[in-house]
Amino acid sequence: MEKNLGIKAEPDSVYDAIYRKAVPYLDTRHNDVHISLSFEFARRLLDLYPEADEKIVFPAVILHDVGWKMVPEERQLKAFGPGAKDKKTQRFHETEGVRIAEKILTGLNYDREKIYEILAIIDGHDTRKEALSLNDQLVKDADKLWRFTPAGVDIDHARFGIQRDSYTKWLDTMIDDWLFTPEANKMAHAALAEAKRISGAEKI
Ligand SMILES: [Fe+2]
Ligand SMILES: [Fe+2]
Repeated sequence: MEKNLGIKAEPDSVYDAIYRKAVPYLDTRHNDVHISLSFEFARRLLDLYPEADEKIVFPAVILHDVGWKMVPEERQLKAFGPGAKDKKTQRFHETEGVRIAEKILTGLNYDREKIYEILAIIDGHDTRKEALSLNDQLVKDADKLWRFTPAGVDIDHARFGIQRDSYTKWLDTMIDDWLFTPEANKMAHAALAEAKRISGAEKI
């Protein structure tokens, strides 16, 4: 099975180039699936917020989780999800993400000012609960939204060891907490309704 879904960026665009550099870091924790889905949510949000800067939002979405590649897989599950206790490792994936993203963006001669803003967003994308800007709000929303999709629900309920029905019920309670923009809130409800409609049993 082709595991890497890729992103729907223009071939040979700068986002495509960033993504190709990120790919070796995304083959862990289902981050390849996560990033392809979150990239699409980012595109939809950017269409609704033309005042946001896609040159910040797209690279931040593509690169925000590259730091997980530096965490051994057996340690990852203690550092994210409903039972996350290992706050040190959670923070480590952010700081490693900043380091790797800076290397990738600098290597592509990306605009220096934009690199600063992208790195500030990546640094704290999970541990900082407030958003720094509209760009950051859209990154945070795109990051969370994939969890509500059928693919996100299937992956997460299994790896967290929570029954699918209980997991979708819990997700419902997190929508207002996690999402910043009203549009993302609506997208989360729509995606979760779809995930509930397609039950795990139907898919087998
Ligand atoms: Fe993360
Ligand atoms: Fe993420």
